[in-house]
Amino acid sequence: MLRVEKILISSEEIQEKVQELGDRITEDYRGERPLLIGILRGAVVVLSDLMRCIELPCEIDFMDISSYGSGSTSSGVVRIMKDLEEDITGRHVVVVEDIVDSGLTLSYLKRSLLARNPASLEICSLLSKPSRRKVELDVKYLGFEIPDEFVVGYGLDYAGSHRNLPDIRIVNPGE
Ligand code: IMP
Ligand code: MG
Repeated sequence: MLRVEKILISSEEIQEKVQELGDRITEDYRGERPLLIGILRGAVVVLSDLMRCIELPCEIDFMDISSYGSGSTSSGVVRIMKDLEEDITGRHVVVVEDIVDSGLTLSYLKRSLLARNPASLEICSLLSKPSRRKVELDVKYLGFEIPDEFVVGYGLDYAGSHRNLPDIRIVNPGE
């Protein structure tokens, strides 16, 4: 049985942080029409809150990617399961993720998106586990740095479950 443990970040703290990120994006992209790219499925919750905190005309699109590798370790080789609908050439792109762990997935994805010649490309992630990083990755818009714990809620899942929790909680698998 999976034990969903204590709250690491409350929904109030999340909402406050997402508003801050939205304010920064609003400032930084004034006069532009940024394209927010949500990485399915984890980023759906943060993207839907974040976009309502951005006071600019903006658009959204989604990508579904899966990284080759076993269990919870990603290999960094990413397969695109669902590609963007939009052409990002000349667009100001903000990739929105739930969490950066090793950084391998996003660093691979970033390289592949840059090859499509966007006007700019930045990364926004609600969470980051800096102690797990395997590659350097510049996350310009970061919500929270968290310790090396497996977390669920606010879009993040354990085997597909718990995405709907409004706060972020630490899980203890196998108990
Ligand atoms: P990485 O940065 O390439 O290692 O992989 C990041 C992806 O791993 C995220 O998009 C999540 O899908 C998943 N992930 C990493 N840590 C967690 C966690 O604590 N909870 C849920 N998913 C996680
Ligand atoms: Mg993910």
